[in-house]
Amino acid sequence: MESRVSPRRIFRPLIPLVAPLAAALLLGTTGAFNAALAQSANPPQPKAPDTIEARVQGCTACHGSHGQGTDNDYFPRLAGKPAEYLYNQLTNFRDGRRKYPPMNYLVTYLSDDYLHEIATYFSQQRPPYPPPAKPSVGDATLARGQNIVLHGDPGKQIPACAACHGAKLTGMEPAIPGLVGLHSDYISAQIGAWRSGSRHAKAPDCMHEIATRLTDEDVSAVAAWLAMQTAPQNPVPAPAGSLKTPLACGSEPQ
Ligand code: HEC
Ligand code: HEC
Repeated sequence: MESRVSPRRIFRPLIPLVAPLAAALLLGTTGAFNAALAQSANPPQPKAPDTIEARVQGCTACHGSHGQGTDNDYFPRLAGKPAEYLYNQLTNFRDGRRKYPPMNYLVTYLSDDYLHEIATYFSQQRPPYPPPAKPSVGDATLARGQNIVLHGDPGKQIPACAACHGAKLTGMEPAIPGLVGLHSDYISAQIGAWRSGSRHAKAPDCMHEIATRLTDEDVSAVAAWLAMQTAPQNPVPAPAGSLKTPLACGSEPQ
């Protein structure tokens, strides 16, 4: 994984662009203050509509107009992932358990309630999925990827990814994300971040356990195979408790 170009290095120059977005988000949370200001101003200023759609506009440049993701390999789809999963990630960025400077910066001053509102909004979006990726690796590697995702590798104590992410890979409520609709570079980068310790989830961090049992070849294989999958007709996450996770995950109710 060390050989991959760090997305952090590529997107550091974006920080100046992100600053005005953060300001817009913050203003959304101080609507009463703005209203008071507007009242004292003479003549009254027209007020921009304070809707959740308007507030998350700063997010859509990187995550797509409805959270569907963009062509950028490192900008993930948000739409349709369980709300608690998205909320956990927003607090992870805010509190430093996940590191990507523009994201860390944008959510620094946002309250739990506000992050919940944003997470719920994106969890309810249902934009179409991108077309599945073309094969980027050979058949043997793809077969290895498919096997790990669907059956795991008992010899190396790797559980099937589908055991937690669902047979249709659409995740499970309340906090396991779907793996369909993600680019293979994004998937590899996240597993790499768990291995190197720059991404953490609530303890016990089952993904850290799993990521450290995968070799570089395994990671490339699962990422390539996952990115080639077509989303099911009804891509909703599996109901809470419908899968018994083979390892304990801190994000799941125990
Ligand atoms: C400059 C581009 C950019 C902007 C603007 C941006 N994001 Fe992100 N976001 C990213 C990238 C890149 C990642 C993945 C970072 C990583 O490597 O962990 C990410 C990750 C996330 C995740 C975790 C997704 C997952 O599946 O784990 C959430 C949730 C999220 N962003 C929400 C938001 C929200 C809400 C906003 C607006 C307040 C926003 N983002 C604005 C680039 C951006
Ligand atoms: C024991 C249950 C479990 C298993 C098995 C599992 N995962 Fe996960 N996975 C999770 C949980 C829980 C999360 C959310 C972690 C968090 O809150 O950050 C997650 C998150 C992820 C993410 C982050 C998605 C995003 O949008 O950023 C990726 C990628 C991922 N898993 C890939 C895999 C792969 C590949 C496998 C199989 C090799 C696998 N997982 C097996 C429970 C599991």
